[in-house]
Amino acid sequence: MSFLDLLKRRESIRNYIDKDVERAKIERCLEAARLSPSACNSQPWRFIIVDEPKLKKNIAEATFNNTIPFNNFTLSAPAFVVIVAEDRQLSLKFGGMDKDIPYYLIDVGIAAEHFCLQAVEEGLGTCMIGWFQEEKIKEALKVPKEERIALVISIGYYENSGPRKKMRKDMDSIRSYNKY
Ligand SMILES: Cc1cc2nc3c(=O)[nH]c(=O)nc-3n(C[C@H](O)[C@H](O)[C@H](O)COP(=O)(O)O)c2cc1C
Repeated sequence: MSFLDLLKRRESIRNYIDKDVERAKIERCLEAARLSPSACNSQPWRFIIVDEPKLKKNIAEATFNNTIPFNNFTLSAPAFVVIVAEDRQLSLKFGGMDKDIPYYLIDVGIAAEHFCLQAVEEGLGTCMIGWFQEEKIKEALKVPKEERIALVISIGYYENSGPRKKMRKDMDSIRSYNKY
């Protein structure tokens, strides 16, 4: 499979099947994330894998509520990766030298995508989840108060009915050479 083909096969998966994910596979996804680049090589992340049934339910229930129910597919996710953004100060200091860009969020985003791409290679589906109740997850996983949870990723086997059509902007509307 070419790298572009792998990218085309990665899509957000929300229809998981009831099958445990082997930790060896998750470890390889984590290794892909660990190899990510980051500002100042600050590696501002910690990955908490949640595959214990009761904890998993707590995490799932923190990703939706009555008003915002669209993430309730997480109830069927076999596992989650909760990404804590750590050592933000180093990254913020570096980014703050001449501009106001929170590099640690860029770093976490790259690591998350590395994780999700290795998951494709492993035959697993993922969905990055940006809407969640942070305090509930921090409490469930005993994350220190001063830390921030940047992202949650659901992961598992799924009903594979072939890749969906990618809904993306046209190349002509996003690219230019040598000027804006
Ligand atoms: C930072 C981030 C946060 C996201 N949050 C959610 C979310 O809370 N719930 C959800 O179902 N999908 C979420 N997504 C998935 C996007 O909706 C999805 O990537 C986008 O629609 C493109 O579809 P694709 O991933 O299938 O190619 C998120 C994606 C990213 C990168």
